[in-house]
Amino acid sequence: MLRIPGHGHPSPDEVVIGPLDLSARVEEALAVQAVAFGLSADEIAVRRQIVQRHMTHPGARAFGATTGDGRLVGFVYGMPNDRTHWWSTVVEPYLRAQGHEDWLDHSFVITELHVHPQYQNRGIGRALITTITDGADEPRSILSAIDTDSPARGLYRSLGYEDLARQVLFPSAPKPYAVMGAPLPLRRG
Ligand SMILES: CC(C)(COP(=O)(O)OP(=O)(O)OC[C@H]1O[C@@H](n2cnc3c(N)ncnc32)[C@H](O)[C@@H]1OP(=O)(O)O)[C@@H](O)C(=O)NCCC(=O)NCCS
Repeated sequence: MLRIPGHGHPSPDEVVIGPLDLSARVEEALAVQAVAFGLSADEIAVRRQIVQRHMTHPGARAFGATTGDGRLVGFVYGMPNDRTHWWSTVVEPYLRAQGHEDWLDHSFVITELHVHPQYQNRGIGRALITTITDGADEPRSILSAIDTDSPARGLYRSLGYEDLARQVLFPSAPKPYAVMGAPLPLRRG
């Protein structure tokens, strides 16, 4: 458990980072993702099925950021990469073209990371991703993020993630993504 202080004393909006039963709390998690990342009702329905399937994969784990009154305000989940998974099959030719295909083996994939806008910029996203990767058996981590200069890309770079491939197109996603990889444990300070 890791505590992120809120504002004021005593702090009403202190959050605690800890393991999350994502299957049980998928609706709350998708509500956070919907405001942080932007999801339509149709996309939420699709994501619900995907998240529930992902949580059955071997080694899938999730952590949440929860307020004192039990509200989920951020979450991360991921799993060891499996080359047969859809995400891996999409990024594989892009990584191969850059000579980085070996990153698909012995890597922990960050599948989703989202923090509610009212709770961003307090270190919650950083705490979530370092906590989940600190518990990974794999020596490295990979992820994909929209290929633009976003807070997410800034955060990942500061943790040691570097671009492995850019302008990666996922079927049905309107914007290109960058695939990033970092050695574990993630860089601190
Ligand atoms: C990405 C996200 C999870 C980060 O969560 P967060 O709790 O705000 O992040 P933290 O406070 O832990 O870390 C902030 C870091 O992000 C980066 N960052 C924050 N705002 C930034 C900005 N406007 N521009 C560039 N980098 C920025 C910095 O590296 C910053 O580190 P610093 O505090 O040392 O300066 C959050 O912004 C989010 O949910 N965004 C929308 C959804 C999304 O894009 N998810 C990722 C999908 S790949």
